[in-house]
Amino acid sequence: MSLTIAQLQKWKQQKKPIVALTASDYAIAKLLDNAGVDLILVGDSLAMVTLGYKNTLPVTLDDMIRHAQAVGRGLKKALMIVDLPFLSYQISTEEAMRSAGRVFKETEAQGIKLEGGYPDMVKTIRKLVQSGMPVMGHLGLTPQSVHQIGYRVQGNSPKSATEILEQSQALVDAGIFALLLENVPSELATKITESFAIPTIGIGAGKGCDGQILVTHDVLGLSDWQPPFAHKYVDLKAIITSAVQEYCQDVRQSN
Ligand code: KIV
Repeated sequence: MSLTIAQLQKWKQQKKPIVALTASDYAIAKLLDNAGVDLILVGDSLAMVTLGYKNTLPVTLDDMIRHAQAVGRGLKKALMIVDLPFLSYQISTEEAMRSAGRVFKETEAQGIKLEGGYPDMVKTIRKLVQSGMPVMGHLGLTPQSVHQIGYRVQGNSPKSATEILEQSQALVDAGIFALLLENVPSELATKITESFAIPTIGIGAGKGCDGQILVTHDVLGLSDWQPPFAHKYVDLKAIITSAVQEYCQDVRQSN
């Protein structure tokens, strides 16, 4: 049986860290699940790491659903959360309801993740949650706003730290079940973590969060580029290249 959102939320009181990684296909999802990862995010970073785009903007709702279906087939224990892609939820609350509804109807998702904490987004998230769709918030570096904010650390001035703190409060009031904090100073992430009852999951946000997430391709050494905070646990690019070179040699020598 898979982990539930309610169980995950209890872990915060028990101070049990949440281990999260991204996945976009069946084979990797199955490996991560077997290895004991608690939460799998079908993140829209799959636009870059799986589909080869420059940023997350081109990925569509159909893409996300197709990948989430594959990931879902690989999971037995882990909780699966799916990103709503760019422009599938920003236009209006109605559009967000339709997009989120498709994710829940067509995949095994137990929750969705939306970026931003400005007033219109808070309103949309409140409606999604009231309709029975669990939402994870995402503040700090929000990659769907790359053309506005770049891939820089967010919340490193007093004004922007206050804004992120206030947006966290607004999202918590709207009913998010967890909050992802990306690329914010460790002190700010710790403050947010200590201020709210919901779990925080950090990426490049220091050790003070209730859980940590990384992009699996970064962890496995498969990415073209990876952020400085992402530790590479194995160099699969080198391992795969040498295995494939050996295969090439075997085939060429046997003829
Ligand atoms: O899409 C993604 O990979 C993310 C990261 C912040 C984990 O949202």
